[in-house]
Amino acid sequence: MKPTFYVTTPIYYVNDVPHIGHAYTTVAGDVLARYKRLMGYDVYFLTGSDEHGQKVEKAATTAGETSLELADRVVKRFQALWERLGISHNDFIRTTQERHKKGVSHIFKDILDKGDIYLGEYEDWYCTPCETFWTELQLIEGRCPDCNRPVEKLKEESYFFRMSKYQQQLLDHIDANPDFIQPKSKRNEIVSFVKEGLRDLSVSRTTFSWGIPVPGNERHIIYVWFDALTNYITALGYPDLNCNYGRYWPVNVHLIGKDILRFHAVYWPTFLMAAGLPLPEKVFAHGWWTVEGQKMSKSLQNVVEPNMLIDKYGVDVVRYFLMREVPFGLDGDFSHSALVNRLNSDLANDVGNLLSRSTAMAVKYFEGILPAVAVMADPDITLRDKTLEMVAAVDRQIDELAFSRALQSIWDLISACNKYIDDTAPWALAKDPASRERLATVMYCLLESQRIIHCLLSAFLPSTASKALASLGWKEIPDKSGLAWGGLQEGTAITKVEALFPRMDA
Ligand code: MSP
Repeated sequence: MKPTFYVTTPIYYVNDVPHIGHAYTTVAGDVLARYKRLMGYDVYFLTGSDEHGQKVEKAATTAGETSLELADRVVKRFQALWERLGISHNDFIRTTQERHKKGVSHIFKDILDKGDIYLGEYEDWYCTPCETFWTELQLIEGRCPDCNRPVEKLKEESYFFRMSKYQQQLLDHIDANPDFIQPKSKRNEIVSFVKEGLRDLSVSRTTFSWGIPVPGNERHIIYVWFDALTNYITALGYPDLNCNYGRYWPVNVHLIGKDILRFHAVYWPTFLMAAGLPLPEKVFAHGWWTVEGQKMSKSLQNVVEPNMLIDKYGVDVVRYFLMREVPFGLDGDFSHSALVNRLNSDLANDVGNLLSRSTAMAVKYFEGILPAVAVMADPDITLRDKTLEMVAAVDRQIDELAFSRALQSIWDLISACNKYIDDTAPWALAKDPASRERLATVMYCLLESQRIIHCLLSAFLPSTASKALASLGWKEIPDKSGLAWGGLQEGTAITKVEALFPRMDA
């Protein structure tokens, strides 16, 4: 049986249309999912939409629609974008689906029955955009400490989750599982936050109605974060423990942005503890994109719209840029000039040019029929070894979610291939009939190395990689065995590829 791998993105709010921040996590999830499938895993890749809560209800009222009409309309924008970006999710959960509502009611009732949810009264400051309550002390100059927007005082009867009870258990878990929260700097932030003391958490509202009612007390609506976080198990069929839940839970990694780490690394694990369910293996918080040096915001009108980028540059260029430009876990800056630089140098010049040069030589010197290897000389052995070392390095780096470093490793090999061409000078060998076998070996090594490169790149740049593999006569779906040296067979038809990536003016 194949080992399983479960990866999730956040579920996105439908009060806003998709932007580059949403695309970022989703592309990262897709790269990971594709890579793990390539390595033989039975992968479940989940994304979806977060459709309940006051924020969505307000947006719908403003737009003159019902909340569900708004959700139905906006969710299509997300789904269409994922289609265009080549996202290979196995499931898309909407929190308005029956399967989700059923699972949320179940876990809520379960924790209620166990005594860790109780009815009380709340009076505190509420930030609607963040859907979060704050104490007086937590406010910064009277505003929300997360987003700096005004807050309002709310007093209401509310169900509370006994989060305080799980403070020590959570700290112990974090301590015993060093990889649970990543990157490390974020883990330390969470540890300090928890050590300051966990208060019981209000998990219901009576001030609006768009959401899942508390079982047995329909006046209360379940807190949107309690509802949303539960998607990670309801999508697997929870509370039925025998279906996908049994197969894929606990999740291998929740990919999220740094702003929602507390919900995933404190609230969610303690909910799970209370319900007696296993905790996620890893929660990884990536950084935020600024745009041309500025915070991305509607008011600055600088929100980067992924469809526009795809129209302008092409899907794989966008995917590459997002994964390569910034180390996963750090903040980064989006700019058109940086993107065009990456396109011209890494994509057009390096990987694209290497393949068109190499396939052109195969056509010119061997009529496009892959010759057999004769004797592997030192430079050939070095290239082969470097290729295999690269495969191992990429595997480690992807396990650490170091997507940018993984691409760097692949690009180091691309440079090595270019240098190999310079060192072996196939054009000189071609002039001398006595060097025919030597030329054949050089061509073989050059193309074989690129076949392996493109098998790996199929996780990052799926459509480019399939074009490249087709030109190398590789018809198989890339898999782990395809990463071994020697896959290309003598006699395979090689076709010259034109530029994989046309250059663009800066
Ligand atoms: N609905 C919640 C998540 C619930 S998960 C159980 C939510 N939705 S969101 O649509 O507002 O944001 C989703 C993700 O987008 C977050 O991970 C957030 O970090 C990410 N980003 C929003 N703006 C971003 C940037 N400027 N840069 C990178 N990611 C950003 O939160």
